[in-house]
This record gives sequence, structure tokens and C-alpha cells, in this order.
Amino acid sequence: MLTLAIIKPDAVHNGLAGKILAHLEAAGFRVRAARLVRLTTAQAEAFYDVHRERPFYRPLVTFMTSGPALALALERADAVAHLRQVIGATDPAEAKPGTVRKLYAESKERNAIHASDSDESARREIAFFFPESELRGLSGAQ
Ligand code: CMP
Repeated sequence: MLTLAIIKPDAVHNGLAGKILAHLEAAGFRVRAARLVRLTTAQAEAFYDVHRERPFYRPLVTFMTSGPALALALERADAVAHLRQVIGATDPAEAKPGTVRKLYAESKERNAIHASDSDESARREIAFFFPESELRGLSGAQ
């Protein structure tokens, strides 16, 4: 199974992308596709469309377009649920010890990493960043 992670602009800017990737690999995820992206406003708006009505939507779009981010297609058994466990709660103050967000996130908004919240989201989000040709032959990909 595949899921999508994004190492967000705060973590890339703070030089934490390598540490976070090592953390994910140590948790059993294999990197099946990776891309350093600088999202446009339109792309960030589309990616977070589900949050369009939320008060944090505009600041979230501004943050996600503020610098490069690292999009990753990750493979592991039970990938979606496991990655969400490994990254911890949205707010690092509430994240369990040893989770990526507890270790590396600055705040609820600048929270170092995104992970898909369901298999359906994972399919949509992986397709958002990676053309089918880059994913050919991967289990769980379209
Ligand atoms: P992410 O997993 O990328 O999904 C939506 C993002 O919105 C979330 O991580 C946070 O970065 C941000 N977010 C969610 N809730 C809040 C909130 N209450 N205040 C600010 N940002 C939020």
C-alpha cells in the first residue's frame, strides 16, 4: 500500500528533511517516488480544497507556498494508518513523544509534515504530485 507524505516548507527550510526521511525509513516506509516542489498558490488551494471554508485555509496556503516542500510516495503495509501514527497529532503540543511532529514541528500550522488521511485521499494526493508513469509497477498505485 502507498500513502503520500509532504515534508513541509518549515522542515525543509530548517534542514530537517533528511532527518525526517530517515525517521520514516526507520519506521519501515520505502520511498517509491520523491519530488521537491515549490507549490503555486493555485496548487496549494487545490490540494487543501477540503479545508477551503476553515479559518486556517488562507494562512495554510500561504505557508505551503512559502518555500520548497518534499512530496513522497511511501510504501508499507497499512501505510495510511501507520504513517499517521508515526507523524503524530496535528498539533505538536498534543503529539506523542517520538513522533515526527513532536520531534520536529514548530506549531499546529507549521507542523513539519502532511500525511494522507485515507486510502482514497492517498490515491488522489499521490496523483496530484506524481504522474502515473513515475509510479508504474508500484503496488497500491492506481
Ligand atoms: P495537514 O496534515 O497538512 O492537513 C491540514 C493542515 O491544516 C494541517 O496539517 C495543519 O498544518 C493545518 N491546520 C489544521 N488545523 C489547524 C488549525 N486549527 N490551525 C492552524 N492550522 C491548522
